[in-house]
Amino acid sequence: MIRFIEDASERKKISRQILESLNEWFEIEDSRERYIAESADQPFWVSVNDDVYEGFLCLKETGKATMELAVMGVIKECHRKGIGRRLFAAAKDYAAIKGYEFIQVKTVRTGIYDDYDITNEFYKSLGFKELEVLPDYWDEANPCQIYIMSLKSAVATIATRHSYRGEYLRESVPDEDLITIAKAGIDAPSGCNKQTTDLIIVTDPDLLSKIKAVLDPPVARTAPAMIIVLTRRINAYRDRCFAIQDYSAAIENMLLAIVELGYQSCWYEGHITDEDRICDKVASILNVPDEYDLVCILPVGKAAESFHAPSKRPLSERVHINGF
Ligand SMILES: Cc1cc2nc3c(=O)[nH]c(=O)nc-3n(C[C@H](O)[C@H](O)[C@H](O)COP(=O)(O)O)c2cc1C
Repeated sequence: MIRFIEDASERKKISRQILESLNEWFEIEDSRERYIAESADQPFWVSVNDDVYEGFLCLKETGKATMELAVMGVIKECHRKGIGRRLFAAAKDYAAIKGYEFIQVKTVRTGIYDDYDITNEFYKSLGFKELEVLPDYWDEANPCQIYIMSLKSAVATIATRHSYRGEYLRESVPDEDLITIAKAGIDAPSGCNKQTTDLIIVTDPDLLSKIKAVLDPPVARTAPAMIIVLTRRINAYRDRCFAIQDYSAAIENMLLAIVELGYQSCWYEGHITDEDRICDKVASILNVPDEYDLVCILPVGKAAESFHAPSKRPLSERVHINGF
């Protein structure tokens, strides 16, 4: 299990235990002690199993847009079990949600030590790209390779999007961000390009209060903005209507834009389209014409609480290659 550790002395205890067991990588006492001391103040994750610390990872901010994978260690008995990958996934999620754009990591250039060559292959397999080699950063015998990873690629954003159902900060969302999000929505594909999806951006506090008052049970009560999704059942061809697929594509595009811009949201559709027809009450508040169905509410705002990815079935169970 991957856990985020808050307590400074626990961080130091874990990093000491693991780094002291990894002599091939952390044999220089001064630098090992520095890693341990610095880990006390850094975002810190541990992989723990039956009270055994299997590995840990710390991040440090190196610039407003960049986090560095400051140190990571997995005990040798647990190598090749996906622990480093899971630790990194948690750290990457954290950095992306905090709005950082890049993660860098410094290592010894490939071709000097076998152990580091393996580490470098691991970083590359995570998606890190070579940025630069600094021959004198440490010393001539240990040329420093900097790897970099963008947290703002479409694929990275997809991996860090999760439904957010917590409280929002009171900060309003600038109109230009809401327009960018809405544009992502209407840029989505639609069957035969029928463009069956319309959107309403709601920022007016009175309207937001009226909408929130009909959301029962209450959700998104503190959201400073909402995007309301409307659909029209226009046939794409013959009797084929792709309106559901059209608005689903638009919603996913918007969720990704929301996350990329540093906000959070949740696809509220079931909640508002059940028998109690909250959607019709919201449609009436917003003067939606009869030919449109209101199908989804996307709150938009900055998260005030931390949150986690839900567990999902593993890729190997759901993705089939060359047949089921
Ligand atoms: C069609 C659809 C309807 C949804 N309706 C609701 C809803 O009414 N309330 C809610 O809390 N989440 C709703 N969700 C969000 C899902 O619960 C969520 O996507 C799922 O649990 C997976 O979590 P993730 O989004 O963090 O990956 C909906 C998602 C979809 C695709």
